Amino acid sequence: QSQPTGQLRTPIVAVLGHVDHGKTTLLDTIRGSAVTEGEAGAITQHIGSTAVPLSVISDIAGKLVDPDDFDLPGLLFIDTPGHHSFSTLRSRGGALADIAILVVDVNDGFQPQTLEALDILKRTQTPFVVAANKADTVPGWNPGDTEPIQQAIERQNDRVESDLNEKLYEIIGKLSDNGFSADMYWRVQNFQNNIGVVPLSAMTGEGIPDLLTVLMGLSQRFLKAEMSIDVGGPGAGTVLEVTEERGFGTTLDAIIYDGTIREDDQIVVGGVNEPIVTEVRALLKPKPLSEIRTEKEFETVEEIAAADGVKIAAPDLDDAMAGAPIRVVRDQDLDDVIADVRKEL
Ligand code: GTP
Ligand code: MG
Repeated sequence: QSQPTGQLRTPIVAVLGHVDHGKTTLLDTIRGSAVTEGEAGAITQHIGSTAVPLSVISDIAGKLVDPDDFDLPGLLFIDTPGHHSFSTLRSRGGALADIAILVVDVNDGFQPQTLEALDILKRTQTPFVVAANKADTVPGWNPGDTEPIQQAIERQNDRVESDLNEKLYEIIGKLSDNGFSADMYWRVQNFQNNIGVVPLSAMTGEGIPDLLTVLMGLSQRFLKAEMSIDVGGPGAGTVLEVTEERGFGTTLDAIIYDGTIREDDQIVVGGVNEPIVTEVRALLKPKPLSEIRTEKEFETVEEIAAADGVKIAAPDLDDAMAGAPIRVVRDQDLDDVIADVRKEL
């Protein structure tokens, strides 16, 4: 009997960190889309997801990621808000994640929501890397563009390099104070026991190839077994948010982490009082490589396979709850699926 192939889903990567430390900028740079006017520096108030295929990751990472070395299809990033009042959205993102990026501004260091994010990662036992962001703000930094961080550091004079190192060791010290053994990522031999710190600039792109390389390596090495799913099976997911969409009424922004969801599928969704049984009217996707929350231009698709973000339009969603499970019924017994959903509420 041959092994099933092509059944590995995309790992879900949560981006966590204190307000303004650069989570959204990092994802914008990875997507290659400049932050739109008026959005730069704005406080993120939602969870958004962006699927980045392996081919794009390998384009950005250059020599560091050879697509032939990987058989995961890419990475699905979840952006979360860092503002203190969005703690439920942070934990929702953390709970969904297979791995995480903890973004820390090298100048600002550890702040309350950095610590809160660390707690979430500890509680959910999510492997993570630290993005030591805004390296370009070290006084005297000679900026470049999307390139490996060693290359960028070689361009700096000794004082800039030692200033950066000092900030990085402060972060490594803070991680250790919080019970995480950490080091610069290039010194980490075993990413299961040690947290890798990746110096980078979300703004210039310096160090982003390194971050993507570490994420792909971590996923391939430690998550591959967990990413094995029955892609054709009935879909399972989580509601990120319940939103009104003109022309569609109440819709669900969701992450599908198992199986497939199709147009016209019967689904069960966790509701305020009772599980909701309804039928998918439309599956809406933002244009490729854009973010599900912020893009208003949707296209309808017939099906979505895990892991991916999708907006689900269906009747009777008014009582749906953020954080609730979504299950496709398909060939399963409806009462069993309802019981499953109830158990998870
Ligand atoms: P919240 O979603 O509100 O928690 O913030 P965030 O973590 O998403 O931060 P965001 O990406 O919105 O960035 C906050 C500010 O920092 C913006 O003005 C960015 O332009 C700036 N910024 C982010 N990354 C960098 C960086 O690497 N270098 C510099 N110089 N500025 C950066
Ligand atoms: Mg943001």
